[in-house]
Amino acid sequence: MRTNPIGIFDSGIGGLTVANAVSEALPNEEIIYFGDTAHLPYGDKSPEAIQHYAVRISDFLLERKCKIILIACNTASAAAYETVRRHVAGAVPVLNVIDPVVNAVASDKSFKKIGIIGTKGTIKSQVYEHKLKAIRPDLEVVSLATALLASMIEAGFYNNSVSQAIINSYLAYPDFSDVQAMILACTHYPLIKKEVAAYFNQRVKIFDSTDVVTEVLKRTLTEKDMLNDQRRNPHHFYVSDFTESFEQTTKIFFRQEIHLELQNIWDE
Ligand code: DGL
Repeated sequence: MRTNPIGIFDSGIGGLTVANAVSEALPNEEIIYFGDTAHLPYGDKSPEAIQHYAVRISDFLLERKCKIILIACNTASAAAYETVRRHVAGAVPVLNVIDPVVNAVASDKSFKKIGIIGTKGTIKSQVYEHKLKAIRPDLEVVSLATALLASMIEAGFYNNSVSQAIINSYLAYPDFSDVQAMILACTHYPLIKKEVAAYFNQRVKIFDSTDVVTEVLKRTLTEKDMLNDQRRNPHHFYVSDFTESFEQTTKIFFRQEIHLELQNIWDE
């Protein structure tokens, strides 16, 4: 089991921010990544559709002998985490990108009010609010769907004047004016972390889905005695629809261009 790969999936290539963090923190681990580019974006899909996709993708990762499944997509974590867990039925541990961030935020008692930005699906689900308030009922939580940001980043607009203008216009949301922390609840947003911090003049703590999630993954593998001591195989990055543009865009999210393999798991 230890030498088996870690399965990571996302609606597309944004989850490569998480895969990259995992690959850097756990260099001995092999990763099987699945990006459901045929059904992207999940942010505008119904929970039922996302659950259907997530179950099939989880089966694919289990067929590839993954020892753990990490749902590296906020929208899928919000809509399908319980479904995937029930479906997998204890065969392997299932992690999402929401709980680690919720626990990190909730444990800092200095936060009284926190803001969240994410896709329409994630924000509408109110999953962050519910999970945060279950631990810290006193915490004030305000959220905003920032629908443009994922496509903006994918088109290469980040750390420039256009992205800063769009980010500023979203973050000018009056409820955000007195938050002590912001959750970047989307796989793409680590790329705009600096711009969000700059908007708040560095006085707000920013959480994204990379470091704390990787930390929880590492802890889970350690506790279950499933850490690999030596990587034997290369990572594989599968997508359900291939375009050159997807492949070129991987360098934004994985810090280097990677080879994508087309894997149609829907007609089988
Ligand atoms: N991966 C999605 C998320 O983290 C963003 C892209 C999409 O809407 O599919 O919410």
